[in-house]
Amino acid sequence: MRTKLVAGNWKQHGSLATNIDLLAAVREGAAGLKAEMAVCVPYPYLAQARSVLDGGRVAWGAQDVSEHLQGAYTGEVGAAMLVDFDVRYVIVGHSERRACYGDTDAVVAAKFDAARQAGLTPILCVGETLAEREAGITGKVVTRQLDAVIARCGAAALADAVVAYEPVWAIGTGKTATLLQAQEVHALIRARIVTDDRTVGEELRILYGGSVKPGNAAELFSQPDIDGGLIGGAALVAADFLAICAAC
Ligand code: 13P
Repeated sequence: MRTKLVAGNWKQHGSLATNIDLLAAVREGAAGLKAEMAVCVPYPYLAQARSVLDGGRVAWGAQDVSEHLQGAYTGEVGAAMLVDFDVRYVIVGHSERRACYGDTDAVVAAKFDAARQAGLTPILCVGETLAEREAGITGKVVTRQLDAVIARCGAAALADAVVAYEPVWAIGTGKTATLLQAQEVHALIRARIVTDDRTVGEELRILYGGSVKPGNAAELFSQPDIDGGLIGGAALVAADFLAICAAC
């Protein structure tokens, strides 16, 4: 039985001063909820997230990780450094990193590998652009993104991971995939993993991300292969994030 997970992706938002209220409200509001919950904050706020969330029901995570263990890689943050801050989840392969920072499928697979080896739970993001959807190659793109990770780590590695399907055209646009569109790709992702490892595929949590709001969360999360959400904008408002968590 898959437990639902809702993870917030704060992206490059927040400040020491404003995070306090958001983190405290999320911690407090999460106490009565059933879903697993996490917030992925910018690196400098991991210590703050830990200090506010420790002992509560909300885990904390990072939004990226270096593919290297350590070394002369200016600006990078290694998986072991995240472990120092009791991080549980780390997003890898977000479309913003793929598009703006050149994270190729191979780099994403290496980051996934580095995260797992350190004992972190990677949240592997996959998804197609609008042009790719219109060209009818959504399945091909998502499968290629998954296959890069499977080729490097094996399908069994997904037992300790989460996949997030985020259609790029639905991120921050207010445009959500229809229930049918989302369910169809989630089922395809699960089927791809089941082909290699039935148990891992059936147990894999696949989150939907892209303009999830309190108003559309419940119907999305009721789809058979949607196991929760990866939430951007709405994760910056405690009441909205908690309402989405409650929709699980
Ligand atoms: P929005 O919820 O703002 O569309 O962002 C989704 C996202 O990119 C989460 O990783």
